Amino acid sequence: MQPKSTIMDLPVYQPGKPIEEVKRELGLEEVIKLASNENPYGCSDLAKQAAMEELEANSFLYPDGASHELVQALAEFYQVRPEQILIGAGSDEIIALMTRAYLVPGDETIMATPSFPQYKHNAQIEGAVCIEVPLVNGTHDLEAMAARITEKTKIIWVCNPNNPSSTIVTRQQLEDFLAKVPDHVLVALDEAYFEYVEDEAYPDGLDYIDRPNVIVLRTFSKAYGLAALRIGYAVGDPQVIRAINQVRGPFNTTRASQAAARAALQDQDFIASCRERNRAGIEYLSREFEHLGLSYYPAYGNFILVDCRRDAKQLFESLLRKGIIVRGGHALGFPTSLRVTVGSMEDNEKFIRALEEVLAER
Ligand SMILES: Cc1ncc(COP(=O)(O)O)c(C=O)c1O
Repeated sequence: MQPKSTIMDLPVYQPGKPIEEVKRELGLEEVIKLASNENPYGCSDLAKQAAMEELEANSFLYPDGASHELVQALAEFYQVRPEQILIGAGSDEIIALMTRAYLVPGDETIMATPSFPQYKHNAQIEGAVCIEVPLVNGTHDLEAMAARITEKTKIIWVCNPNNPSSTIVTRQQLEDFLAKVPDHVLVALDEAYFEYVEDEAYPDGLDYIDRPNVIVLRTFSKAYGLAALRIGYAVGDPQVIRAINQVRGPFNTTRASQAAARAALQDQDFIASCRERNRAGIEYLSREFEHLGLSYYPAYGNFILVDCRRDAKQLFESLLRKGIIVRGGHALGFPTSLRVTVGSMEDNEKFIRALEEVLAER
């Protein structure tokens, strides 16, 4: 039996190492994970309670496939129409559904590189041609991306802040870019880290969703701290949302995740406090990197890419032996860098101490 030819050379996704695995393999009692841009402060108590109650009462019932109540809650929260919203099992699923709905073999799709790998991964499965445009100074080169648009272009991905560099494109850059994008091209603004960004020049993708070819992807996995529950959403033109809904599985999210997300939305104090602590973490890490003479891109998400000018794989392994899991840049297109999630201050300090030791070893 042969699977479809487009997946022949496709790797299985290698996520950041789970804590349990590192403890088991290295016989460590304490392991800190700063590898998957998760929220070190967990989630709102309201979300936890809502998920538990839902599980207790209704585990035997299928969820509402259309996530009606969560859609209503988000529509109210953002003052948009319910038909502009789609709920997915994380933005990962929405990216996959978009490629499924829009890309056929031979279509072109444009993305920055390095960027979030799921755009390319899913586009390849559909047999689309991926046009990868190198970052400039860690940032999307939107002019170069616009210059690559052809009749065959179907989707352009803009990851803002960009994973793994944590850089942003500004409102002005985005607007100049959107002015050049023709109507037949869908622009996906992936704003997985939206809630963390404080810079005034950072655009809110929702300001552009009146254009029929702009769709914004956001998630409850990051600042909302619900990564385990797999829930995210897209906001865009009703016709685009409908097309993506057409290829969605009947019950793609769970009752617990829908309930938790609804409750989480109500607790904006939690988000504000995470944002603040994240900012302090970025300031701390940036300062420490400067003391160590390491360069980094100014970080806008809850992670920071630091160039250690050493082989990232070796650094990653040395840190792992000290019980610190980060993401080695070798897997992300930055072979001498580490991508570090901003943790609690205690964990950030432990990471910096371990990094100092590892760098001194050589
Ligand atoms: C830029 C970006 N987009 C999307 C995702 C997927 O998030 P989720 O599927 O958990 O919503 C991530 C996760 O790391 C990400 O970094």
